[in-house]
Amino acid sequence: MIKSIGAREYIIEVGDWMKGKKASQSKAVMTDLVLPPDTNFLGSIFGGNVMAYIDKVACICAMRHARSMVVTASSDSLDFISPIHAGEAICLEGFVTYTHKTSMEVYVKVEAENLLTGERRLTATSYLTFVALDESGKPAVVPPVIPETEEEKWQYNGALERHKLRQQRREERKQREKEE
Ligand SMILES: CC(C)(COP(=O)(O)OP(=O)(O)OC[C@H]1O[C@@H](n2cnc3c(N)ncnc32)[C@H](O)[C@@H]1OP(=O)(O)O)[C@@H](O)C(=O)NCCC(=O)NCCS
Repeated sequence: MIKSIGAREYIIEVGDWMKGKKASQSKAVMTDLVLPPDTNFLGSIFGGNVMAYIDKVACICAMRHARSMVVTASSDSLDFISPIHAGEAICLEGFVTYTHKTSMEVYVKVEAENLLTGERRLTATSYLTFVALDESGKPAVVPPVIPETEEEKWQYNGALERHKLRQQRREERKQREKEE
């Protein structure tokens, strides 16, 4: 079926798919051991390595939700809260919090685990936007998210405001580009 949204036409599947997918269906977790080559001169993991892990986990979440190719459109926040040291595990967990038409917001939480004690601490959080693509590389419609847990509902309820801010930033950037 071909559905028209705005000026574009999108090929979508009909049926249960467009009724929505549970946030938990997009959940992805990843754990890795931080070794000395991954760290800086302070013995803690390079920020760029953490960013790469976040992007990878978020990409898996987005692909699980859309079941299509996706691209990272933006990362509007990444807060490093505490370092992760060599010998600790880096533990990432993410899920799709919200969708618009073709874009998906993904939240990723990063924790450090002391493998001797099991103690965990929050080290970073990030919100990223991914866009689903069809076979010709054009943005493709994605199903809405069905939040179930308290955390999923909390993230879902805050997502519209973040979406508006992102759109505003994008418009401002386009305006600046026109003026240059
Ligand atoms: C992301 C991309 C596909 C959007 O293409 P576009 O021609 O701008 O498409 P549109 O204007 O129709 O926007 C499509 C969706 O992307 C969203 N979008 C585009 N740029 C965005 C940005 N910077 N931040 C958040 N969302 C963005 C739009 O809001 C829209 O969402 P919606 O359909 O849910 O309303 C395109 O900009 C691109 O390919 N960027 C490069 C991606 C990339 O190389 N990533 C790194 C490697 S994976």
